[in-house]
Amino acid sequence: MDVEPINIERAMAQVDLEQLRSRGSVKWSATNDSQLGAFIAESDLPLAPSIQQALADAIGRGLTGYLPTPVARDTAAACATFQRRRFGWTLDPAYIELLPDVLGAFAFTLGQLVAPGTPVVLPTPAYMPFLELPGAVGHELRTLPMDLVDGRFVIDPQRLAAALDGGGLLVLINPHNPTGQVATREELLAIADVVERTGSTVFADEIHSPWSIRAASMSPTRRWTNAPPRTP
Ligand SMILES: Cc1ncc(COP(=O)(O)O)c(C=O)c1O
Repeated sequence: MDVEPINIERAMAQVDLEQLRSRGSVKWSATNDSQLGAFIAESDLPLAPSIQQALADAIGRGLTGYLPTPVARDTAAACATFQRRRFGWTLDPAYIELLPDVLGAFAFTLGQLVAPGTPVVLPTPAYMPFLELPGAVGHELRTLPMDLVDGRFVIDPQRLAAALDGGGLLVLINPHNPTGQVATREELLAIADVVERTGSTVFADEIHSPWSIRAASMSPTRRWTNAPPRTP
């Protein structure tokens, strides 16, 4: 399906404060009227017409049960097309599995894709739940404070190698929350080098990639590594 590019200003002109408050979303209802739950990453933009239409069609057909295999297959193919068109990354849809959300994927990774107790290395500052989940399911958390160098938050490869010594799971968030920073190709290659040398695994959270203002500069981590993807 061809989708029109978003014009943010036009989209924002369709919503006003009154509507946002009456929508009742968590961000707008978690606090009192003089405050805003700005820490909650819910979009204020109206849902894209094509998404509204697809949801209405599915509900109209009574498609409210389990995920049918052909729908999962089409979604995986659409995801691969999006990655190729937006980021120039060609990936086989057969490697794409659908999961309900990022934290569910992270919990699945800790439970199924790495050895029990594998240490989790998390560059900080970080999106809060990544600090809590590993310990809750029996994994040691090793935080790795990033360095602020010339206005950029950078991961020091030497300290990363020390944290991943013996193998670990690196949580790599790109574009990064909360700094908003997009990793460069060189930074990703330096990280990939350490990951390979230490026999580690990467959990790449690229949830914010479609929002990257300079989308062309956003490089999905897997594009720069040669190892085959790990599947369950
Ligand atoms: C970097 C990052 N990952 C994950 C999430 C949450 O993802 P989900 O709700 O799909 O688990 C957020 C939400 O703010 C986020 O900023």
